Amino acid sequence: MEINAEFLHKYNVSGPRYTSYPPANFFNQGFTTSDYLSELKASNQQQPANISLYIHIPFCPQRCHFCGCSTVIAQRKKVVERYVAALKTEIELVATLLDDSRSVTQIHWGGGTPNSISMNYIREIMDWIRSHFTIADHAEIAMECSPAYLDYPHIDQLAEMGFNRISLGIQDFREDVLKVVNREAPRHPVKEVVDYLRSKGFRGINLDFIYGLPLQTAESFRETIQQAIAIRPDRIVTFSYAHVPWVKEAQKQLEVIGLPDANEKMNLFLQATSQLREAGYCSIGIDHFTLPEDDLTKAYQNKQLHRNFQGYCTLETTGQVYAFGSSSISQLGGAYAQNHKEILKYMEDIETTGTAIDRGYKLSKEEQVVRAVINRIMCNGLLHLDEVAEEFGLTIAYLKDLLSFDASKFEEFTRDGLMHLDGHQIRLTEKGFLCARNIAMLLDPALKSGEGLYSKTV
Ligand SMILES: C[S@@+](CC[C@H](N)C(=O)[O-])C[C@H]1O[C@@H](n2cnc3c(N)ncnc32)[C@H](O)[C@@H]1O
Ligand code: SF4
Repeated sequence: MEINAEFLHKYNVSGPRYTSYPPANFFNQGFTTSDYLSELKASNQQQPANISLYIHIPFCPQRCHFCGCSTVIAQRKKVVERYVAALKTEIELVATLLDDSRSVTQIHWGGGTPNSISMNYIREIMDWIRSHFTIADHAEIAMECSPAYLDYPHIDQLAEMGFNRISLGIQDFREDVLKVVNREAPRHPVKEVVDYLRSKGFRGINLDFIYGLPLQTAESFRETIQQAIAIRPDRIVTFSYAHVPWVKEAQKQLEVIGLPDANEKMNLFLQATSQLREAGYCSIGIDHFTLPEDDLTKAYQNKQLHRNFQGYCTLETTGQVYAFGSSSISQLGGAYAQNHKEILKYMEDIETTGTAIDRGYKLSKEEQVVRAVINRIMCNGLLHLDEVAEEFGLTIAYLKDLLSFDASKFEEFTRDGLMHLDGHQIRLTEKGFLCARNIAMLLDPALKSGEGLYSKTV
């Protein structure tokens, strides 16, 4: 089937993004702090034993109107100081509950804009982490940065602190697009920033873009992607703009300016995909393009790509994720636990009890199996039911029953050239990756349906 208006009409439905399974709208307040503490202790026995740390810095100098992240705009120094102190308290408590023998293989700083706070705070927290955990030699230490607030001395300081990965949020190179979405342009030419990062030893350098924003046209987005290719970062992500104005009020302002329709939006993505492929980038998982020699490309080729809320990662660096800061989500073998989103509530709770859990979800054994199934589809586009059955010690009949796996459900997807079904094996085609969420939905026994609950799948 051609990718055209008919294709979109058929496959562009509301559905979970599956950044977690079950999706975050299943998290609830029946999951308490005592559940969290016992899950933390239980996680010492779970695999992989590696530790991933996530540090959430919610602050941004100004709000981009498309933003779907958890942010707080323009905070006073006193509040930032109090927040940093709360992070340290939270880190200390978790560290006391984890086995000393486990080492940290990934530290990810996200937000918000972590590079918008003083580097002194970042250093203070990194020193604190080092004094409470053992960091593996090959650990990946990454930060999501906005280039509007990134100066060369910041890069020097991050390198000194041990950071070795950076993701720069570009979104679009066109100033008119940035202006209508209320976003500051990069402070320095991005090519020079990327070259400088390389000279300082950073690897896996990533640029983020969003397609589907106001004023983006085929011509303007072609230029933006061409500019990205000329910079030659290791990774390029083209996120589909997730429009959820019922959760993010500021996004309504983009409706007033006018958003590209589904067909135009898909064409932006398809055009970007062919530009990036022609330039030698490999398409891996969903929305991600990587140079052939990048770690993520190799992991994808070996079907070893993994993913957490922080994005794609490799088997080597992934681990149980312990998250710190407002709104952050710990992702453990048996549960998800999310902190309060509101920073004042987060700080007050940490100051009084050391934890700030708002909600969470404890996974049953069956849900852990479904999570493994859905991750295989979303990361590697490949599912061998026999492998999953073996990994969890299940019979194939039981697994098929759990997933309501019925070959007839996949017939249309196969006919439309989106996947191949061979006995107990599903393999997505290149085109099928566009509909990975739709295929995952067929394997999700607890799917909640409804407009207004999720963004569009394509
Ligand atoms: C926390 S932000 C990155 C760091 C920094 N705050 C910045 O904007 O450069 C993470 C990424 O999420 C993506 N993003 C934010 N809102 C989005 C939305 N509504 N739909 C799709 N992607 C979005 C952007 O590409 C952004 O770079
Ligand atoms: S996109 Fe980045 S800089 Fe803009 S408001 Fe969201 S988190 Fe802040």
